[in-house]
Amino acid sequence: MSITSTIRPPTEAPFSTRDLRVEPIVVTENLWKLYHAGKVEVPALRGVNFKVLTGEFVSVMGPSGCGKSSLLYVLGGLAQASRGHVLVDGNDLVNMGDAERTKLRRHKIGFVFQRFNLLPTLDARGNIAIAQHIYGDGFDPHRFEVITKMLGLTDRLKHRPSEMSGGEQQRVAIARAIVNEPKIILADEPTGNLDTQNSEIVLSMLSQLNKELGQTIVMITHNPEAAAYSNRVVHMRDGVIVDGVPAD
Ligand SMILES: Nc1ncnc2c1ncn2[C@@H]1O[C@H](COP(=O)(O)OP(=O)(O)OP(=O)(O)O)[C@@H](O)[C@H]1O
Ligand SMILES: [Mg+2]
Repeated sequence: MSITSTIRPPTEAPFSTRDLRVEPIVVTENLWKLYHAGKVEVPALRGVNFKVLTGEFVSVMGPSGCGKSSLLYVLGGLAQASRGHVLVDGNDLVNMGDAERTKLRRHKIGFVFQRFNLLPTLDARGNIAIAQHIYGDGFDPHRFEVITKMLGLTDRLKHRPSEMSGGEQQRVAIARAIVNEPKIILADEPTGNLDTQNSEIVLSMLSQLNKELGQTIVMITHNPEAAAYSNRVVHMRDGVIVDGVPAD
């Protein structure tokens, strides 16, 4: 009997996005990232082995400088790995050229940063729709409506970034990131610039996107309370993931 038939319910079960598909969407194997600062070589990642399953919401924690952002940038194809393998949806980013990596990033990855990075002259609608026009296969009004409603942005769509709170701006940035149905959202300290109340709103919305749409999310955070919104927490130190490694 195959594994699939063992875990499949005997009778038809109601659809639930919580049923994790078991295949990993991201796998890294012995992943290294070296930066070159003049003559000095800075090893930011020193052999990371990391796996994210479809439908997971994973937090990455660890001290400043341990390589969290570097890991996210390499996973998302924003930075080139120095050694090892990075598989995203079965594609090895390490063997790809720049153009191919950019294409994969546009279709499969959504980024959310600490600074919201919205275009100041466009209103919320424009900031979200531009992602669909540039990266997607055209404007999808249904997806747009579902996402903006879920993020509580329906009444804010005509506001420009300067006319919105930090929390609202970050929700627009999240809408922009997910509007094209990326395979994975990579969020680098998404609540780093927000007060407690707005952080809670943004985190519960990320959690809702994960639970209700099955959106896979990897989120860097320094805050254990933020990490508590995810299903799994991994810890990094000195360029490696230290979970499961006995303390010395
Ligand atoms: N462009 C770069 N050139 C040289 N060194 C870099 C560069 N970017 C990062 N580093 C170095 O790589 C290491 C890992 O940096 P990274 O930004 O990944 O850490 P981080 O865990 O995200 O830290 P923080 O919590 O402060 O954001 C650090 O020692 C950092 O100084
Ligand atoms: Mg960082």
